[in-house]
Amino acid sequence: MGNITLALAKGRTAESTIDLLKKVGIDFQDFHEDTRKLVFYSEDASIKLIFVKAVDVPTYVEKGAADIGIAGKDNILESQTDVYELLDLKIGQCKFVVAGKEGDFSPAKQRLTVASKYPNITEQHFRKKGMDVETVKLNGSVELAPLIGLSDVIVDIVETGNTLKENGLAIFEDVEKISTRLIVNKASFATKSKDIQRFINRLKEGLEAEYENSNG
Ligand code: PRP
Repeated sequence: MGNITLALAKGRTAESTIDLLKKVGIDFQDFHEDTRKLVFYSEDASIKLIFVKAVDVPTYVEKGAADIGIAGKDNILESQTDVYELLDLKIGQCKFVVAGKEGDFSPAKQRLTVASKYPNITEQHFRKKGMDVETVKLNGSVELAPLIGLSDVIVDIVETGNTLKENGLAIFEDVEKISTRLIVNKASFATKSKDIQRFINRLKEGLEAEYENSNG
């Protein structure tokens, strides 16, 4: 394999992604979840891994600072970057939903106020439905917004559903399925096509082997 720079999202799915890479023979030996190090090399030094904030992965890839990125669909969509999305790693599966206080959804209201960490996804979703909404950008604990009257509803990620449940909120609508995806810089895909294709094929084989194991 040639020289590829891979941007990996820090956070919940990093360890599973590193495990998958290891299974297909791409081993970053000194990587561990709590590392403060930001650059790693595969054993044969053909792949340079840069460990970046999840929200920044699409930017690194779009700008060509990384050839390949591995990040959640949530951050890829929100970034509105121009990259190729070529593989679903099926890690960190969850979904975007519209949620609010149980029994409180009033879509007939003139202009809904929607709180979200993802204003672009939120606006796009309601635009498709022909609804004009006011979006309030928050950076976390979004579930609080409808409870204290900061917004009518939220657009947020649901995994187990525990956060919604513990705050007395209900799902009104599913917006989009999320999981970890592989993205590629458009120029790199042309200039390093063989190496990138080989990398993707190895991951695909690893995913197929995992699928076969889990299905007996
Ligand atoms: C995410 C998301 C929800 C929660 C969903 O928040 O924004 O709040 O996880 O998970 P659940 O359905 O399994 O309860 P995160 O933990 O990233 O923290 P945040 O509130 O600071 O965004």
